[in-house]
Amino acid sequence: MSMLTRRHLLRRAALSATAATPAGAVLGTAATAAAATALTGCQPGDPAAPSDPSASAAARLQFPTNFGWGAATSAYQIEGAAKEDGRGESVWDTFSRAPGRTRNGDTGDVAADHYHRYAEDLDLMRDLGLRSYRFSISWPRIQPDGTGAANQRGLDFYRRLVDGLHERGIAPMATLFHWDLPQTLQDAGGWESREVAHRFADYAATLFDALGDRVPVWLTINEPKTVVQNGYLQGHHAPGRRDPDAAYLVAHHLQLAHGLAVQALRADGANGRIGPAFNLHPCYPADDSPGAAEATRLYDGYENRLYLDSALKGSYPEDVLADLGPDSRMVRGIRDGDLDIISSPIDLLAVQYYTPIYVTATGGTVRRWPTSEATWQQIYPDGMYDILTRVTRDYGPIPLTVTENGLPTPDVLAADGTVEDTGRVTFLRDHLAAAHRAITDGVPLESFHVWSLLDNFEWAEGYDQRWGLIYIDYPTQRRVFKRSAHWYRQVIADNAL
Ligand code: FCB
Repeated sequence: MSMLTRRHLLRRAALSATAATPAGAVLGTAATAAAATALTGCQPGDPAAPSDPSASAAARLQFPTNFGWGAATSAYQIEGAAKEDGRGESVWDTFSRAPGRTRNGDTGDVAADHYHRYAEDLDLMRDLGLRSYRFSISWPRIQPDGTGAANQRGLDFYRRLVDGLHERGIAPMATLFHWDLPQTLQDAGGWESREVAHRFADYAATLFDALGDRVPVWLTINEPKTVVQNGYLQGHHAPGRRDPDAAYLVAHHLQLAHGLAVQALRADGANGRIGPAFNLHPCYPADDSPGAAEATRLYDGYENRLYLDSALKGSYPEDVLADLGPDSRMVRGIRDGDLDIISSPIDLLAVQYYTPIYVTATGGTVRRWPTSEATWQQIYPDGMYDILTRVTRDYGPIPLTVTENGLPTPDVLAADGTVEDTGRVTFLRDHLAAAHRAITDGVPLESFHVWSLLDNFEWAEGYDQRWGLIYIDYPTQRRVFKRSAHWYRQVIADNAL
């Protein structure tokens, strides 16, 4: 391992330490806020002041005609029915059942029971007025062992779901992989194995054959960075590894899998559009020192350019490759032609935005804004504007969709049957206003998906965090529109904020 890689590791450790700091310990002062506006390698234009809620409430912000108002979920987080209809085991079954891995030992065995209640959930989506629904397909439902012939009952479930969406006038957006790798493939090396990227392309081709005539938009891999960082650097997501050298080889194989799936869609001749789903973090220097600017640049490489440059420019960022070093497993694992595959032309880019990152001269991170219940999430709506405009500026006018944005709030079902999640309304309004500003400034943003449609299994946080527009009363599985759902329905109906 190179010296530089070790330095990078220290930065990772600093990031997780920061994420563990209690929410009260916010480092926000006028002086540090001013410093945050210093121009960085990853910050486009002139950063505006945080949104003023009263101002955004007073003005009507009209969205483009046919804007794709949406909401998002993922298979393991909502479906339950973990052992039904031939579904195989995934790494998240293994991980969540292992002692001490998730809060309260929660698993996705039942989750929101969407597998059985999907028809009711489709009606709720219609009542909400959704125009687009982003869901993911469970690989172990389709190929229980990660390879070979498709499990017909698994395919049938998604066919019913997709048909139900069309019947209600909602456009399906299907994510091929949202972290639930078949356990058998993990046993064979998981994403450290190049072979798994080829298995993924075969799985994708199966779905293009089966559903290609009725799914207009496919997303390849959800947040490869989270698999790298949470799954292989910090180890608090499946498969629970702490191995930096493996982590970046995994990054390369996830990118390769993405590119192979894009090629599989083209080979299939299906009409659908396809792209990756990246969680992007605008990175800002924590102060105006040259050291902070330099550290921020490299941090941005690991957070954003590693994924964006490879998929959209056909090259990995030189600074990141140099930092990893020539002996790293990733650098050694890149073969001739891989970058051509990874940069196979895509139709759209899915952006997921939750939080900014403030980087110090030593490569650590600090907080600048209040956090949500998810202590890693600083609430900074202007980061949405910055990341959307930055992508358009640096990568050209590729169509964009926001496929995740939201926050967890301490929601309570009151005796009168209401859930007053006013914090979520404020958050979504401010982030949508920032997205609107980006559209006004020329960003080709075509849709926006709230994370999430339903309360669900929030990975290592289990069911403690509620991210949904719709409340799930887990003991009864009753669904209740929160105040934010009523609000969002009106926004959709008005096509305006
Ligand atoms: C994203 C994940 C999604 C959910 C939200 C809160 O990173 O893609 O499944 O956990 O965070």
